[in-house]
Amino acid sequence: MNRIIDIVAGARPNFMKVAPILRALAPTPLKARLIHSGQHYDEVMSDVFFRELGLPAPDVHLGVGSGTHGQQTARILAEYEKHLLMSPPRGVVVVGDVNSTMACALAAVKLSIPVAHVEAGLRSFDRAMPEEINRIVTDAVSDVLLVSEPSGDVNLLREGVQPQKIHYVGNVMIDTLVHELPKAQDLPVPKRGFALVTLHRPSNVDNRERLVAIMRFLEKLAGHMSIVFPVHPRTKVRLQEFQVEVDGAVQLLEPFSYRQNLAHVARARLVITDSGGLQEETTFLNVPCLTLRTTTERPVTISAGTSTLVGNDWGKAEEAIQLVLEERYKRSSKIPGWDGNAAQRIAEKLCREWRPI
Ligand code: UD1
Repeated sequence: MNRIIDIVAGARPNFMKVAPILRALAPTPLKARLIHSGQHYDEVMSDVFFRELGLPAPDVHLGVGSGTHGQQTARILAEYEKHLLMSPPRGVVVVGDVNSTMACALAAVKLSIPVAHVEAGLRSFDRAMPEEINRIVTDAVSDVLLVSEPSGDVNLLREGVQPQKIHYVGNVMIDTLVHELPKAQDLPVPKRGFALVTLHRPSNVDNRERLVAIMRFLEKLAGHMSIVFPVHPRTKVRLQEFQVEVDGAVQLLEPFSYRQNLAHVARARLVITDSGGLQEETTFLNVPCLTLRTTTERPVTISAGTSTLVGNDWGKAEEAIQLVLEERYKRSSKIPGWDGNAAQRIAEKLCREWRPI
């Protein structure tokens, strides 16, 4: 009787999504096996998340490391396939939209092993974003599509996915947020009134002119509020490579752990980011969020949340900041399934779909 299911995590934004799923599966007849692709491998990008989130050591570590998209995806596919051939699970759960998500989904489906995708149906409609390709491919080969926000259902139905494959379960990131917030609130953070900045998308950091424009914008904002900026490794490399000088008023820090980040988000006056996860976390915590992108795959964070897409429009960003300073910025409303229990619904669904055989 095969009761094993693989849960795949590869990069920083995956770890907080798999933690509640592993907890919810623990008391069920399914036996979860944690697979780490090794896409992220540093202490600050991976290990600290395992410790803080109470994740078990991975059952399997593929150790693929960094590379071009082709190299990284190919290595994950080849390494995960070896593992699947040696020890095939009943099903594979992938989360989010990183290269590990797509590669492991492909490896599994090619061996006729069913795949469940957590955060299915999100679309930015911008194929220049590497994650958009990962989302489209992963959804196309998945059997169980677990949706986190209303747009996911709409997108999948429009793409012709059979309705019986689509299940609205809500948002597992919020499960982790709810679980970790009390512990995060004990951490020391600057006094209220600061802006938290995170930046790592290729569209913002891989182009010198764009990166310089963002830094100049932050330096200007530093006249109104202090700026806390934990720098992603990709961004750190680009700032050095492009020799971008940054005024000392913008505090450049090492990447934050999950709890450090949450502690800062919860107490920030404003968040400026290009991260998908932060658009959701700020929405849940009712913190204003300026999103430095022209599109989002998480539109509920705009329509019901606190995110404003500012793209390259600094005038729009300044108007939003003015509203924040005058305490007139929009507030968020409740979103179905963002309640701390999404992983429970996922576990119930997987137990029904993948009864041990
Ligand atoms: C990846 C994901 C992105 C996610 C982001 C969160 C893809 C296509 N992109 O982007 O969706 O939002 O993670 O962080 O999967 N590096 C380190 N240490 C590490 C890992 C990476 O220093 O532990 C450096 C390396 O120089 C590497 C670069 O960061 O080349 C980029 O890493 P990579 O995993 O390719 O993409 P991210 O930009 O992190």
